[in-house]
Amino acid sequence: MILSARNLVMTYGAGDAAAHALAGVNLDVEPGSLAIMGPSGSGKTTLLHCLAGIQRPTGGSVRLRGADLGTMSDRERTALRRRDFGFVFQSGQLVAELPANENVALPLMLDGMAHRAAIGRADHCLTLVGLAGLESRRPGQLSGGQAQRVAIARALVAEPAVVFADEPTGALDQNTGQEIMQVLAGATSRAAPHSWS
Ligand SMILES: Nc1ncnc2c1ncn2[C@@H]1O[C@H](COP(=O)(O)OP(=O)(O)OP(=O)(O)O)[C@@H](O)[C@H]1O
Ligand SMILES: [Mg+2]
Repeated sequence: MILSARNLVMTYGAGDAAAHALAGVNLDVEPGSLAIMGPSGSGKTTLLHCLAGIQRPTGGSVRLRGADLGTMSDRERTALRRRDFGFVFQSGQLVAELPANENVALPLMLDGMAHRAAIGRADHCLTLVGLAGLESRRPGQLSGGQAQRVAIARALVAEPAVVFADEPTGALDQNTGQEIMQVLAGATSRAAPHSWS
């Protein structure tokens, strides 16, 4: 098991105004892909932020390979986010001035990898998501679906244990959205069954 949550509680505000976004969530994430679905306001983003250590829950615990995120220092949690987690958001997360491969290489270079090696890894990841040949295009020269593939390549480039995606197809048409889900599922294709409650 990679990631697990026990009795996760997140309450925003207090008293009559309190919003109970998470009320005792238990979740075990195994290798493979897991989709969390629910109506607007049901707590999906809150759950994802708590699992990724972006937000501190009101109660309960999150463990990555057994290590409790709640007892880590901010510095340790930040390092963990950079090394073990990848993120894909709805849209607009690429640096407009940089070509696709430099956008993808950015996390590696921020972590100290030499430019040439980082670009090599980035180009490989762009090929994995079907963008061979478009490495030097800037985001403005790509379609929405292609730009989202660049974002997926960037989330994968540091070979994280877990990739978090919050509505990664929300800004795309239905067909392109399905394609993107296939790219994401393909990237995590060493899938094993998961369980959650
Ligand atoms: N910072 C906040 N302060 C107060 N309430 C909040 C805050 N963030 C979220 N909420 C409330 O918590 C609940 C869950 O919100 P969350 O954003 O996790 O839902 P969601 O499932 O991601 O919704 P969507 O599908 O619209 O993105 C909602 O009722 C929301 O109003
Ligand atoms: Mg949300």
